[in-house]
Amino acid sequence: MESSDWLVTEDGQCLACNVPKEEEFPSRPYRLYRFLTDVENILWHIPEDSDRLEAIRPLVRRLLVSSDWLQGEYINPDPETGWSVLMLYDEPDFPLTVQMVAWLPGSKSPIHNHGTWGVVALVSGEEKNNFWRRSPAPELPDRIEPAGDRILVPGDIISFLPDAIHSVEPLGDEPTITFNLYGETNYDRRFEFDTTNNTAQVF
Ligand SMILES: [Fe+2]
Repeated sequence: MESSDWLVTEDGQCLACNVPKEEEFPSRPYRLYRFLTDVENILWHIPEDSDRLEAIRPLVRRLLVSSDWLQGEYINPDPETGWSVLMLYDEPDFPLTVQMVAWLPGSKSPIHNHGTWGVVALVSGEEKNNFWRRSPAPELPDRIEPAGDRILVPGDIISFLPDAIHSVEPLGDEPTITFNLYGETNYDRRFEFDTTNNTAQVF
């Protein structure tokens, strides 16, 4: 199956993006430290998040194609919570975090945005992303409504603008393993949404 690259906008649209051809990647290994340097250069030179994501997505694909070791870098999900995070890179005062996240089917994430740009690549398993958009009413400023969904399979890459709202649900019987790259979180702008009470709480 063809891999897909997606961009999720703040109004819950999931837009198809250009997928670079793997044959065009240089054949030499693409090391994590070079990837981090390339992403940092992009952040220095490109101010707009959607332009940054357009530049970063192909690097994530190149890293995953080049780095077999990444496929096995994860922690088995905690049976209690249903998920686990292995931090691959998180340096104080450096605006990037790189994680491998594992989820057990049967669990479901809260509805949230990230308060920063993010790129998630599916390494194994199958994952449904549900998208939401804000739909405020006079007494309900934090009301949201569903805006569609997308099922991701291994090789798919999805990227998010800081205010894009989603929830994630592993499908099938295998854990979902994802490579997650995020910028610097703006904690005033990162919310968990409650669709019963129409509230948004910072987290
Ligand atoms: Fe998320």
